[in-house]
Amino acid sequence: MRSTSFVAAATLLAGLVRGQGSVEDWHPPTKGDVRGPCPMLNSLANHGFLPHSGKGIKLNDTIHALGEALNIGQDIAIDLFGFAAMTNPEPNATEFSLENLGRHNVLEHDASLSRADFDVTGDSVSFNRDAYDETRKFWTSESITVKQAAAARLARYNTSQTTNPKYTMSPLGDRFSAGESAAYLLVLGDISTATAPRKFVEYLFLNERLPAAEGWKKPSHVFTPTDLATGIDLIYNATGASAEDLKKMRARSKSELHGGSWRD
Ligand code: HEM
Ligand SMILES: [Mg+2]
Repeated sequence: MRSTSFVAAATLLAGLVRGQGSVEDWHPPTKGDVRGPCPMLNSLANHGFLPHSGKGIKLNDTIHALGEALNIGQDIAIDLFGFAAMTNPEPNATEFSLENLGRHNVLEHDASLSRADFDVTGDSVSFNRDAYDETRKFWTSESITVKQAAAARLARYNTSQTTNPKYTMSPLGDRFSAGESAAYLLVLGDISTATAPRKFVEYLFLNERLPAAEGWKKPSHVFTPTDLATGIDLIYNATGASAEDLKKMRARSKSELHGGSWRD
C-alpha cells in the first residue's frame, strides 16, 4: 500500500532532483533524445517537465510532470507509471523511456489517432499525416465534443480493421485508446462540459507542445481517477456499440486490469 508520506517525499524529491520544466520553455528533441507514440508525454519532455532526453523516466519524474504541467493527481501518475514500466524490456524495471512506450502491443495499439499501424507502415511511433487527417475530419466544430471524439476513434478502428490484415486490439489497448480520447478532451478542455477547443488539441498533436500560445492554461481542477473513468465511459457510451458489446468490452477490460485508474 502506498503511503501519503512516500508520495509527498517522492514529489519533493522530483522537484529537487530534476529540472522543473515550464510552459514557456520548449525545445524540440535533438540528437540522442528519444520520443514515442504519446503526444502529451513527448510535449512534456519538450518542455522539460520530463527529462528532455526522454530516457530514464522514474516514478518521481512522472508524478512531477503530470502534476506540475497538467494538475493530474498522483494516483493517476502512479498507475500510469506502473503501465509504462511494463514497456521497459528489463525485468522489474523502475524506469521507462518514451521510446519503450512504442513497443507494439504492450501499451501501443493499432488504430491510433495520429500514428499508423505497426504492421502497415512499420512505424507506429512517429506522427502520421494520413492517420491524423482521418481523425481531424470528425472534429467539425471549434469545440470538440465527446460525440466527435468517439466517432473519430471509431473511424480509426474501422480503417485499421479494413486495411491491416494483422489488426489486433487487446482489452488493455482498447481501454487505453478510450482513455486517450478522454484525456485530450478533459485535460486540454473543460471537464464540466467534456469539450475541448479544437485549436488546443490540434496544436498539441501538430507541435508536441502545450497550447499556451492558443490560450490553454493548466487546469485548476486536480484530475482524478474518477474523472478519467467517467471520461472513458463517455467515450464508450458515445461510440454507438450495442449495449451488449459494451457489456462484453467492459467485462473483458475489468478481468484484465488489476485496478487503478483504468477501471470503472
Ligand atoms: C505516464 C503517463 C502516460 C503514459 C504512460 C502514456 C502512454 C501512452 C501510449 C503508450 C500511447 C500510444 C498508444 C497508441 O496510440 O498506440 C499514448 C497515446 C496517447 N496519449 Fe498518452 N500516456 C500518458 C499520459 C497522457 C496524458 C496525460 C495525456 C493527456 C492528454 C495523454 C494523451 C494521449 C493521447 C491523446 C494519445 C493518442 C495518440 C494517438 O492515438 O495518436 N497521454 N499514450
Ligand atoms: Mg498506436
